[in-house]
Amino acid sequence: MEISICKKYLDSTERTDTIKCIGRVSKVQGLLIESRGPQAIIGEICRIVAPKGRGQIRAEVVGLRNEIVQLMAYEETDGIEVGDRVVALGSRLEVPVSEKLMGRVLDAFGNPIDDKGDISSDCLYPALASPPDPLKRKRITRRISTGVRAIDGLLAVGKGQRLGIFSGSGVGKSSLLGMIARNTTADVNVVALIGERGREAPDFIEKDLGPEGLARSVLVVTPSNSPPLARLRGAYVATAIAEYFRDQGKDVMLLFDSVTRFARAMREIGLASGEPPAQRGFPPSMFDSMPKLLERSGTSDKGSITGFYTVLVDGDDMDEPVADTVRGILDGHIVLSRDLAQSYHYPAIDVLQSISRLAPSVSGPASKMAAGEIRRTMAVYARAEDLINVGAYHQGSNPEIDYAITKHNQIENFLIQDIDEPSTLEETLSLMSEITGVDIPEEEMADNNEKLLTAAGGVIKKIKPQKTTAAEQLPAADSVMALNSVASLFSSLPAASAL
Ligand SMILES: Nc1ncnc2c1ncn2[C@@H]1O[C@H](COP(=O)(O)OP(=O)(O)O)[C@@H](O)[C@H]1O
Ligand SMILES: [Mg+2]
Repeated sequence: MEISICKKYLDSTERTDTIKCIGRVSKVQGLLIESRGPQAIIGEICRIVAPKGRGQIRAEVVGLRNEIVQLMAYEETDGIEVGDRVVALGSRLEVPVSEKLMGRVLDAFGNPIDDKGDISSDCLYPALASPPDPLKRKRITRRISTGVRAIDGLLAVGKGQRLGIFSGSGVGKSSLLGMIARNTTADVNVVALIGERGREAPDFIEKDLGPEGLARSVLVVTPSNSPPLARLRGAYVATAIAEYFRDQGKDVMLLFDSVTRFARAMREIGLASGEPPAQRGFPPSMFDSMPKLLERSGTSDKGSITGFYTVLVDGDDMDEPVADTVRGILDGHIVLSRDLAQSYHYPAIDVLQSISRLAPSVSGPASKMAAGEIRRTMAVYARAEDLINVGAYHQGSNPEIDYAITKHNQIENFLIQDIDEPSTLEETLSLMSEITGVDIPEEEMADNNEKLLTAAGGVIKKIKPQKTTAAEQLPAADSVMALNSVASLFSSLPAASAL
């Protein structure tokens, strides 16, 4: 009898979680805090009780080594001492989500920083989540309008597509994101300003977004002076908020500025926690985390997150590790050119260097043909530009170049767009129709154009016979050949339903 009571007692003490949830700080080195205990999982939030410092400091478990728990603080670490208590809270980072988030500005943990009232909600979304099941993702067949002519016309974007915006600093990435936020037809914008300069957030909100843009956006802001873990978590919190709206069946636009700063925060954390540097100092965990973050956008079985992620390319080096990794994961890249920006050609999109991998599946045959023709004309002009500029090209030597010269200004005017000048998809495609003479039917101009690929029934025609000047004599045979080759390309495409 006594033995059985004793055994019961021993069993229950074994099961009871007594001291395991509290640990003690054993070392603080730079960003990294080590403690003996508590028992916790990676990503779990802990509270460090530092009576001589600021009281309670939130930290997250980033590594486990024997009994040592490695933590990184969300806040400044002043005042932490060896022996301070570390209490595991039993959960990972979660964000309260609801419609109340619209028009609000949040910090890296989803707390409002705009003094516009409470956003608490019973619905919590985990900041760290898995991407949707690939087999449950809807195929991307509908296009979304960004309101930027160069993108909608020549780099058609699908609902749920993810693209990178690549450029050096000061070429117009943030301004382009602002333009998209203001003019897109998406239901909600989630804007993540990760690791940018502190003054950029108010600038972005007032100048680029404006009150009407802000009303349909949620912003998550973690400036460059916040600890690296906060920058990292800001990225996850913004993505979680986008996931919430996607689960409500909405078409969300996630505007992420910038992935490079996210990767650099990853590097600071990786190196501090003792990871070996791999490429250019980036630890292996950066290459592992990047796809995990970027794959969370896209379509699910309910709604879509269209993602624009900016990437800073130093010295226009597109092969540096972050740019290279991001380019490999995303479904397209938009390259901004310093030359264009310097000649006040804004948005400074280098169309010929940029690609939208899904453009063929989301745009109709006539729009595709018009886009193809404009690109081709631009390419011909770009090849001959040096000759033209030094006056070495003589009109009449090459009909293609002559044609490209006559179209050059019209195309430039189409591509240059003021930051506060909206352009609907219909306006964009009508202008392209005017430039190329390709008849773009109305059904291709609609935003929700699921039946696009079959819309034109394979018949693509040029509406207005191109009024050609002497310099513009594209031989008839050439033009027919070009049209036929594009038309045959479309006829070989499977119908939309079969795609
Ligand atoms: N569409 C535009 N129209 C006019 N000026 C622009 C435009 N886009 C960028 N700029 C100019 O370029 C500067 C830097 O742009 P920004 O978007 O902050 O670049 P990045 O984010 O690439 O560093 C802006 O302050 C502005 O002067
Ligand atoms: Mg910027």
